Formats: sequence, structure tokens, C-alpha cells
Amino acid sequence: MNLASIILAAGEGTRMKSKLPKVLHRVAGKAMVEHVMDAAAKVGSDRTILVVGSGKSAVEAALSGRKVFYAHQTERLGTGHAVSIALEALGDEAHVLILCGDTPLLSSKTLEALVQYHEKSGAGCTVLTAELESPYGYGRILRDSEGNVLGIVEEKDASAEEKRIKEINSGVYVVKRETLLTEIPRIRNDNAQGEYYLTDLIKLARESGERVGAYKTEDASEISGVNSRVQLSECETLLRQRINKALMLEGVTMIDPSSVYVDADVVIGRDTVVYPGCIIEKGTVIGEDCEIGPNARLKHCHIGNGVTFKDSTGIESSVGDDSTVGPYAYLRPGSVLGQRVKVGDFVEIKNSNIGDDAKISHLTYVGDGDVGENVNLGCGVVFVNYDGKKKHRTVVENDAFVGCNVNLISPVTVGEGAYVAAGSTITKDVPSGSLAIARDKQKNIEGWVKRKNR
Ligand code: UD1
Ligand code: CA
Repeated sequence: MNLASIILAAGEGTRMKSKLPKVLHRVAGKAMVEHVMDAAAKVGSDRTILVVGSGKSAVEAALSGRKVFYAHQTERLGTGHAVSIALEALGDEAHVLILCGDTPLLSSKTLEALVQYHEKSGAGCTVLTAELESPYGYGRILRDSEGNVLGIVEEKDASAEEKRIKEINSGVYVVKRETLLTEIPRIRNDNAQGEYYLTDLIKLARESGERVGAYKTEDASEISGVNSRVQLSECETLLRQRINKALMLEGVTMIDPSSVYVDADVVIGRDTVVYPGCIIEKGTVIGEDCEIGPNARLKHCHIGNGVTFKDSTGIESSVGDDSTVGPYAYLRPGSVLGQRVKVGDFVEIKNSNIGDDAKISHLTYVGDGDVGENVNLGCGVVFVNYDGKKKHRTVVENDAFVGCNVNLISPVTVGEGAYVAAGSTITKDVPSGSLAIARDKQKNIEGWVKRKNR
């Protein structure tokens, strides 16, 4: 369907007690408003109009990578007013979804059902509703004896009898473009709060002879908005459970999903096992047949197939197929590992390329390096990449063997197949095929202990 969406996000969010606009608070690694935008996009909305208030510049900065039209509501005169200022950013879409920026749990599945219901019924306006045991605070759905929707009454305007109604307005609507353009300017603010209520749209459309409808969702938890950090954490828990469940249903094993934190939009392939204590953050893609964790943190990483990644951290890095990382390794941004690489305990890698079949088994720092295929870096090798002012690169070519406790003072190159003796401090290039030894020769002073009376 040809859809646009208007997302209301001009609220102050006072109860968050935050410098950050409410809708930018993250749930499962993604700003609340982005969850809403993505859900709308999934059901076919190709234009997002975001109504922002005082947090305008912060919201614009945070969403700078996305195509969004902004409507600036300088005075909060109500939800109807918020929509009215968004209208000029509309394109020629046939229908408009209206959403709130603080409902990150709203699924595209529910939105899809709402949109389909709306389309099938031919209504001018359809509202998403739910039944709540305690409907206090929400707008109530008014229906006639045959169940036809008549309108919505706000808590503060409701009679005692109306307050007993349990079907509530979620604040989500789909509206025909013409209906929206005709009825929004007709909304008045003659109510208990002196606000322009978007909810009046239903009654007005009906008065104009339009069909109006309500689609009731079974999962009331989806529509709850976030107003405080407590609710934010509750949302977080629900969303993470949903993410883990979806991954498991797609073939990922989680030994203890309650201890696994996977951000929204992370991809994990089939038959990968995620052990307890893992944090798999935004931008991470993991292949099939991997063993991740226990206690792994991955952020913006690309992990191939058959990779073992234990007790380690990876940030903005990639690991090729069948490699093993950890325990206790740290891949800092820009680490690119080839296939069948072994990175062992207490190894730190930064801004470096590591060729296929290379082994870096223990206690090594590789910074700003290009390590070739089949290279062996012994225990305690240090790429001395910083001279106090500038960083330089170190190159270790294919098949080279660097012994234990070697300092490679960059810029320097160890040629193909060369050997570097343990304990060397290498300041000059090592030609391929040669052995470099750069350390003092050992001398033994015989009888020294006895002479010194020790
Ligand atoms: C609104 C609905 C109510 C519904 C509830 C669901 C109206 C009049 N009432 O009530 O029926 O049950 O949502 O949560 O619409 N906003 C703006 N500009 C404004 C006012 C609000 O952008 O001038 C935004 C807020 O940031 C928020 C959304 O609109 O994202 C809803 O506003 P809010 O004040 O929370 O409405 P409610 O009183 O909760
Ligand atoms: Ca609200």
C-alpha cells in the first residue's frame, strides 16, 4: 500500500529526567523512534514525517543518516495540532499511518494487521485498540450496541460510565489521505484540557459520512509507551526476549537466553551456539556454525562461519571463517582477520589485517599491522607502532616466523618467510628468507656465585 507515516514525538518526556529527548533513548541498542520508523517502513511506509518539539536539533542529529521529513511543533497544543503541522510534508500517499515515537514494542506484524483491516474495510479512518484490565489514563473507544465505532473519549472528559470501558485507544491510526486533509482542520479544542485532540478525527470522519473502524490487537503489551526509565527497562526486557525468541526459532541455540543481550537488527546464522553472558550489539552479523561466548562482546562486527569467539571483545572488526578468537582477546576497531586465524589469550589487535592461517597465540599486541598468511607471532610480540608523536605501520609478510618477546619498531617490514629470533628488538627491515637476531649475546660468568659468597 502507498503509505506515509506521521510520528508524534514532540513531547518533553519530563519523567525521563534526561537531557536526551525521550524518543532517542535506546531500547535493544536502537532509539525508540527508530524502532517505530522501522516497523512503519516494514509495512510499506516510504515517507516518514516526524513531529518534533524542543529536542528538534538533537533528534535531527541522531537520525542524520535517515531520510526523514521534520515538522517542528513549537507549541504543544495537542495531538491533533501536532498532526496538522505535519500535513504539509505529506506526499501523494493514499493512506497515512499515525504513530507515537515512544512505543518501541509495536511490531510490524500488528501494524500489518491494522493496515490490512483498514484496507479491507474501506474505512476512512481505523484506530488500533486493545483491552486493558486497568484502562486508566487512556482514551476509551465508544461503540454503539452493534459494535460500530462512534468515537473516542479521553479520560479527563469521560463520564463515570465511559470510564468503565476497557477498550482503549493505542494512539495508532491509519487514515485515508483525503479524510485526514478534510477532518484535521476541523478539530477544535473545546474539551477538558483545552487541547486539539487527534482522537476527534474518528467522530468528525463519521459525521462526514465516512466509515470508521477499530482493529483490536490481542497483545496489549505492544502498545505501551515509555514515560520513565523504569518503563524503558521493562520495554528492554520484552524486546530482548522477542529478539532472542526470533533468533532461536530461526535456528540459533542459546544455552541461557536470559543472559544473552542481542540488539535489534543483529543477524546470527543457523546452528550457531550462543553461550551465556554474551552482549551482541548493533551492526553485528554472525555466520553459521559459530560458538559465541561465554562472555563475548561484539559490536559492529562481521563474524564468518564456523568461528569460535570466547570470553573476548570485538569492536568494528571482522573475523573470517573457521577462525578462533580468545579467551581474553581484544579486537579493537579496524581488525580484519582472515580465515582459520588463531588469536589466543591476552592478544590485542587494532587497525590491522591478519592473513589466513596466521597464529597469534598469546600475549601479543598487533597495532597498525599487516600480517600475512601463515605467519606465526610468538608469545609476547609487540608492534611498537607509536613513536610518541605518530603511528606507523608494521608489515610481516607471508610465512614469516616472529619469535617470542620481540619488539617490532615500526615502520618496519619482516620479509616473506623470514625468522626473527626471540627477544629481538627489530628496528630495520628483515629481508625475506633471512634470520634476524637483535639482542645481546649471552655470556656466562663461571664461579660468580661462589666468589660473591651468595
Ligand atoms: C493520547 C490519546 C489517547 C490515547 C493515548 C495512547 C489524544 C488526545 N489522546 O493520549 O486517546 O489513549 O495517547 O497513548 O490524542 N504529542 C505531540 N504534540 C502534542 C501532544 C502530543 O507531539 O502537542 C505526542 C507526544 O509526544 C506523544 C503522543 O503525541 O508521543 C501522545 O501524546 P500524549 O500526551 O502522551 O497523549 P495522551 O494524553 O497519553
Ligand atoms: Ca501517552
